[in-house]
Amino acid sequence: MRLQLASWPEVQEYLTDSTGIMMPIGSTEQHGPTGLIGTDAITAEEISWRAGELVNALVGPTISVGMAHHHLEFPGTMTLRPTTLVALIRDYIESLASHGFRRFLFVNGHGGNLATVGAAFYEIYQEFRQAHGADAPALRCRVLNWWDGSKVRALSDDLFGSRLGNHATPSEVSVAAFAYPGYVKHAELDPPVAPTGRFYDARDYRRRFPDGRIGSDPSMATPAHGERLLVAAAADLAEAYRQFMNED
Ligand code: NI
Repeated sequence: MRLQLASWPEVQEYLTDSTGIMMPIGSTEQHGPTGLIGTDAITAEEISWRAGELVNALVGPTISVGMAHHHLEFPGTMTLRPTTLVALIRDYIESLASHGFRRFLFVNGHGGNLATVGAAFYEIYQEFRQAHGADAPALRCRVLNWWDGSKVRALSDDLFGSRLGNHATPSEVSVAAFAYPGYVKHAELDPPVAPTGRFYDARDYRRRFPDGRIGSDPSMATPAHGERLLVAAAADLAEAYRQFMNED
């Protein structure tokens, strides 16, 4: 059930049975010549919505803009600064915790968010400890990348092998294509498999990876692959959520 599509009595009823919630978090950033700018938010929310149905979990509103400073040389990219994202996550969790939510599983669609999301969790724990002392509610916050589950990883290896790459991957582009088949885009990719390597700031990124991709060949992406990847990732996520909710 999506929080945005629920009524308050439904949320009140849900809380008598569970204090868990999934929180999709993505990014609004370039994904190469063919990938949608919203890929990371779309993938995270689609997989969360599907997994939420499997385990009857509430899914919060998607955090659609994340840490994308290094993509700012490409038109359309938006970023928060780390302090803004930390503040936003604190406010989201404090709002939900005030109603009784206690376990927050962040479903991440963008690797660049991880450090800042982790920093937000530390801030929240510290803030609750200072505010409530020994009576602080036992909050638990976790973040996982949707592509790290064992089923989706195996499928993605099988479908794309070494052409998966690290950014604008055929895996994420496929999931977004399945979600929005009317927005599949085509372009000549040169070279077919993008270069890999380290980068520093936004200008350095664009210099090393001129079309925005890193190590990937998104021409392999199809909506049909996207459906299979979505199903696999949702199954992985459902399992991770069950474990998270059942932990001592
Ligand atoms: Ni991405």
